Amino acid sequence: MSPRHFILVSLLLGLVSADFSTSFKNFIIANYGQEMYDNLARNDLGSVGSYGGGSHDGNSATSKRAVILVHGTTNNAGTFSFQRNTLLNNGWSDETVYGTTYGSGSAEITPAPDVAMECEFVQQVRNMITVVANFTKQKVDVIGYSLGSPIARKAILGGECADNSTVNLGSPLTSSVETYVSVAGANRASYLCVLPVTNACSTTNGLFCLSSFLTNINAQQGYEGSHIYSIYGPSDDKVGFYNLPCLTRNSRIVGATEYANATGNHDAILSGTINLQMTYLNAN
Ligand SMILES: *[C@@H]1O[C@H](CO)[C@@H](O)[C@H](O)[C@H]1NC(C)=O
Ligand SMILES: *[C@@H]1O[C@H](CO)[C@@H](O)[C@H](O)[C@H]1NC(C)=O
Ligand SMILES: *[C@@H]1O[C@H](CO)[C@@H](O)[C@H](O)[C@H]1NC(C)=O
Repeated sequence: MSPRHFILVSLLLGLVSADFSTSFKNFIIANYGQEMYDNLARNDLGSVGSYGGGSHDGNSATSKRAVILVHGTTNNAGTFSFQRNTLLNNGWSDETVYGTTYGSGSAEITPAPDVAMECEFVQQVRNMITVVANFTKQKVDVIGYSLGSPIARKAILGGECADNSTVNLGSPLTSSVETYVSVAGANRASYLCVLPVTNACSTTNGLFCLSSFLTNINAQQGYEGSHIYSIYGPSDDKVGFYNLPCLTRNSRIVGATEYANATGNHDAILSGTINLQMTYLNAN
């Protein structure tokens, strides 16, 4: 195939990758190695795998603090393109909006009941926070959507992985995070996990309210960043408002500033509160 034909076929198949910018890619490879780059860029998923970097060179601080979007179960960085684009239209830029994809990135490959909060996912989000803070030379903001919220909180907290005691993630990244925003986060459970019968509801690293993972991230307070917010609503149909058997509010982060009356179902809350998400980021 000639180069020209290859480009044409790639365009037709949608294989042209958004990926990280060239400068961000070079920075990661130079400072952390090729494996870290491959792991965060997720080029295996094509354009939905990752984004961020812009024309920043990594030698000085970005003019604005970066925000890292952490996706939820069975989706990927590209799923949050509405939120990303809204940020890009409201003062953020490609230098300051970042995303990576943990897991398979697809419900066809891994259905939701099979997705637990694996150590590897937490490690990846933690690496993303460290690398972006290093590249932008300042603290970052983090938005954790749905399952992405407990995963991001554990990434910031560090310590031993719930599902693999041989891995200690290290000390908290609190000093690297200015603002943490949970949106429809499964912080204390999902109401669908009444019994721990699937991987997603596992007692080890699932969304059953008494799992080791959730017990660990809720045993301490205030570690997610300098300012902590949780946005959720009563009509959430995936995380839900309350759970059995603990009768706690699924999205509550004790000590966080709460907005608990977001309207609409789970997906509507993720996108419909983008203005509030930006208000919280801009408040600090
Ligand atoms: C950035 O990464 C480099 C290479 O690993 C390291 O030497 C440096 O201390 C890091 N800087 C920050 C601010 O994390
Ligand atoms: C635990 O993590 C180590 C180091 O990454 C890995 O070699 C091992 O396979 C993991 N064990 C399990 C049970 O996942
Ligand atoms: C929604 O919640 C916020 C904060 O929790 C509160 O300030 C606001 O008054 C509430 N709005 C309604 C309509 O209940």
